Amino acid sequence: MELFDAGAAYDAVLEHNYMFHREIYEDVAHLLSHRQEPFTILDLGCGTARYMAQTLRNCTVTAYDGFDLSESALREARNNLAHLNCPVTLHHGDMLGGLTATTHKREVIFSGFAQHHLSWENKAAFFEHAHRVLHDDGMLLLVDAAREPDEDRDTFLDAYYRRIKTEWKALTPEAQDEVCCHMREYDFPETALDIHALAARAGFAGRREVNQFHRHHTWSFTKTP
Ligand SMILES: C[S@@+](CC[C@H](N)C(=O)[O-])C[C@H]1O[C@@H](n2cnc3c(N)ncnc32)[C@H](O)[C@@H]1O
Repeated sequence: MELFDAGAAYDAVLEHNYMFHREIYEDVAHLLSHRQEPFTILDLGCGTARYMAQTLRNCTVTAYDGFDLSESALREARNNLAHLNCPVTLHHGDMLGGLTATTHKREVIFSGFAQHHLSWENKAAFFEHAHRVLHDDGMLLLVDAAREPDEDRDTFLDAYYRRIKTEWKALTPEAQDEVCCHMREYDFPETALDIHALAARAGFAGRREVNQFHRHHTWSFTKTP
């Protein structure tokens, strides 16, 4: 089950910027604009790619590959990405499976608010394969929610639930509860420290916390410091 499949709740979240997409994707755009050369990009857990599609407007992309479990989100992604002047391939399937099967090197690997769905072991495999697939001068950009250093999963979920209840006013109480139930079942956020440790173990020598909005982080990882 993927709650955000239906799109309505997540669309409202994006519309009202509850997860700071506006600020986060500004940072992503800024980082991508520094790349001198045209680049290929893998977008793991792309969803509708609504924000990524806008972010890539000012970039020279030579190939975009998106992976997602939701067919309906991919249908929307196809429309959102139609302006890209390059091959766009949307894969319906598991992002780790897709990444594991990728043999061509890419300059940019991106994942937004999706990696927390993976188990600890699969997050480790995600970093290992991202390291293998990245060009030597490539960049892994990861956006995700993370637990505070002293938070266990239940404490994180309780705090997130309180925030949804008090701030996500555009969602009905039922929709708020549905989001929370979904999170209790499917979300396994790590701490920022653990994310950095997994990246280091996979061989990423460059590890940077780009920004943090509430519990939402943006990290960049590179092969060289
Ligand atoms: C919260 S949405 C994020 C969408 C978009 N990347 C963003 O930044 O707004 C998470 C997406 O990850 C997808 N997803 C979750 N687990 C996945 C997996 N194992 N493989 C591929 N996609 C997955 C969901 O279908 C959903 O579209």
